[in-house]
Amino acid sequence: MKSKPLAAALLFALGAGYAAAALAQVKPEILVKQRQAKMVLQAKYFGPLAAMAQGKAPYNATVIARNAGYLAVLGEMAWDGYDASTKDVKSRTLPVAYSNADKFKQAQQHFESAVGQLVAAAKGGDEAKVKAAIGGVGKSCGSCHDDFREN
Ligand code: HEC
Repeated sequence: MKSKPLAAALLFALGAGYAAAALAQVKPEILVKQRQAKMVLQAKYFGPLAAMAQGKAPYNATVIARNAGYLAVLGEMAWDGYDASTKDVKSRTLPVAYSNADKFKQAQQHFESAVGQLVAAAKGGDEAKVKAAIGGVGKSCGSCHDDFREN
């Protein structure tokens, strides 16, 4: 029982910390670095799967299931890096990502649902379906890049 006030105080301190973090503006340059880092990781975990789907690397169901899970987590993360405050920071994001946030959001959802299909296919274990789902994820990367990334 003695620890209760301490726990409450800790919770309060944590809560206050989060609130302060939310209020303090993250520097636009940092947001850009973070969103690029997320993309780098997406490429890291998607690259081997693309190679497998194309027959350029041996098919490995364990790696596919693991990387699909990582991609799902990455998909949930940090789209907030494309905040309008980053408009003037030099990057490859096209202005339309800020001016047409709805369309950009749709592209994110397209990616997330393609990854969801890959996670499901990996669980199902049918190689042809898994390869098709990898192709679907690749298309969702590519179509977003076509519309929102400078090449
Ligand atoms: C919803 C849109 C969207 C999706 C989906 C998407 N990307 Fe991107 N990607 C971007 C944008 C926008 C940039 C430019 C980021 C910047 O420079 O501000 C980018 C940049 C990148 C970069 C360059 C990162 C750097 O260091 O500058 C890589 C690599 C990349 N994406 C890989 C991928 C891969 C692989 C996938 C799919 C598994 C993917 N992306 C899915 C929008 C997307």
